[in-house]
Amino acid sequence: MNENMTQEFQGATKYVLDQELASIVNISMRLEMPLLLKGEPGTGKTMLAYAIAESLDMPLIVLNVKSSMKLVEALYQYDTLTRLNDSRFGDSKRDVSNINEYIKMGKIGQAFVADRRTVLLIDEIDKADTDFQDDMLDVLDQMQYDIIETDQTVKAAHRPVIIITSNAKKDLSDPFLGRCNFHHIAFPDPKMMRKIIHVHFPDLDEKLADNAIKAFQHAGH
Ligand SMILES: Nc1ncnc2c1ncn2[C@@H]1O[C@H](COP(=O)(O)OP(=O)(O)OP(=O)(O)O)[C@@H](O)[C@H]1O
Ligand SMILES: [Mg+2]
Repeated sequence: MNENMTQEFQGATKYVLDQELASIVNISMRLEMPLLLKGEPGTGKTMLAYAIAESLDMPLIVLNVKSSMKLVEALYQYDTLTRLNDSRFGDSKRDVSNINEYIKMGKIGQAFVADRRTVLLIDEIDKADTDFQDDMLDVLDQMQYDIIETDQTVKAAHRPVIIITSNAKKDLSDPFLGRCNFHHIAFPDPKMMRKIIHVHFPDLDEKLADNAIKAFQHAGH
């Protein structure tokens, strides 16, 4: 346990939080479970991770998931090319015989080796395939992974607060859903929208904001 474990998330300066979402965040942190957030674009999924990091004063590490991404890229990368160059030209400050000098941590790796608890945002997980998703959850369950090239195990020094977002273009697998705390962020109603506009533009004319919200709703929401 470390000092962040007992901290409560109660919102951040630029994030409007309803009580339900606040509780889910705090429960997930207590249970040390990843929090999976779904919801329409613009509902504040990504920003929530920024807000948690800001309010609990933890470093934020962001893994932007891409469709072609392999899990190992999020764990570590072995820079064979630089090592080859260094061994050929011999003018590097690095010790070519030491593979460790050429291992670079990926985003999940950085969260594991950090010297304090971090917030790890895994953004847009639905872009990855099912194998990536399930393998990633194994790593996050065990809080460790192996670096094959050096036969070393990287263990998380501090279990990160894990926020995973999805736009739900594709369905996530059952094992994935079973291992996360899940929350759907509803599209904000006009009252919530007014509050959100207010934190970003405190000086904006009320009437103008109201008209904008009305126009927005007429346009389809
Ligand atoms: N509850 C909120 N409080 C304050 N600002 C908010 C809130 N919800 C959304 N916003 C604002 O709306 C914008 C979009 O939020 P964000 O990028 O987090 O959405 P998202 O759910 O991650 O969308 P996408 O699915 O497109 O990635 C941000 O500029 C953010 O500040
Ligand atoms: Mg987002």
